[in-house]
Amino acid sequence: MSPTAHERLARALAGEAVDRVPAWLMRQAGRYLPEYREVRARVSFLELCRDADLACEVTIQPLDRFPLDAAIVFSDILTVPEALGQPVEFTAGHGPVLADPVRDRAGIAALRRGQGHLPVAAETIRRFRAARPEVPILGFAGAPLTLLFYMVEGSGSRDWVHAKRFLYADPEAARQLLDLLADVVGEHLQAQVEAGAAAVQLFDTWAGALPAEDVRRFALPAAARALSHVRGAPRIYFAKDAAPFVASLPEVGAEAYGVDGRMDLAEARRALGDLPVQGNLDPVLLHAPRDTIVARTRAVLEAGGGRGHVFNLGHGLLPTTPIEGVQAMLETVRAWRPPGAA
Ligand code: CP3
Repeated sequence: MSPTAHERLARALAGEAVDRVPAWLMRQAGRYLPEYREVRARVSFLELCRDADLACEVTIQPLDRFPLDAAIVFSDILTVPEALGQPVEFTAGHGPVLADPVRDRAGIAALRRGQGHLPVAAETIRRFRAARPEVPILGFAGAPLTLLFYMVEGSGSRDWVHAKRFLYADPEAARQLLDLLADVVGEHLQAQVEAGAAAVQLFDTWAGALPAEDVRRFALPAAARALSHVRGAPRIYFAKDAAPFVASLPEVGAEAYGVDGRMDLAEARRALGDLPVQGNLDPVLLHAPRDTIVARTRAVLEAGGGRGHVFNLGHGLLPTTPIEGVQAMLETVRAWRPPGAA
């Protein structure tokens, strides 16, 4: 008998044999889907993140279109700064903007630890579990270092000068903020597990913007502290551009590691001592001709070896991603069988 979707995902994340490799996609709900754009024509992105019914609806959208093996709760990593008293806005074309950037110890002291809209994610998971009990849903949060970058910079950035200056000017204060973020993030992840999340992912999108030495000093210990709060579900740590420090990732203590699209998956796996991996097709490849998508998807599956591998992209789907590309990739994953599987 074939395993349930819950069993298949749990086995892949535990490094056990599976009948086929499960797949989900970072940003699988989003602007590349016409049905998502339809909802967004009525409500802003933040309103969507604050309404569990609407968030549940868009969480389900990609499942009704594609052969996916898991959902990810619709929310955003910047709900955490907001809960600490730093309001966030999304401006068209400029991405997120955070009020009153934290630039020193007084900025840290001004943060207030509240709930804000954080409980919406767990509520969305509860609704999803009632609506689609057969499909595992992942909870998530931003990793402390990535959140610190946004909170100090006040927006996204190419060079992160303010954020890095803060780390180097007062490493003790930086550690204090990372510890606070780790505890808030850890509790937020645990609330999602208690609401029924089958696994959680910690997104460290900007860790790779630091020299490897500082990743080990700041990002990995803070991520480990955040994940230490989580009991009862496997934990995935995703750091983008992690090639320079891939062998240090296990310091985080996660069950599985997300690998970005620039790394060779087989090499990442060896560097990780054969721990379970997730990834890693470059999302831009989905703009390529169909034959290329099929061939490159198979190459990722073969590099993953069919065991201890959850298929995903190397980073989130882009608003320009063609629907047919996503379909071709996911059909290829569905059809592929691990070596030795029936
Ligand atoms: O993966 C999923 O489908 C779940 C939902 C999800 C979103 N954001 C929805 C979203 C997840 C997991 C995130 C995480 C997130 N948010 C990260 C880490 C992951 C990554 O991509 O590296 C980061 C850095 C953020 C912060 C953030 N939120 C940015 C930089 C942006 C883009 C701003 C822009 O103008 O494009 C967002 C907005 C956002 N988050 C959108 C979605 C679907 C697009 C908002 C819209 O509908 O206009």
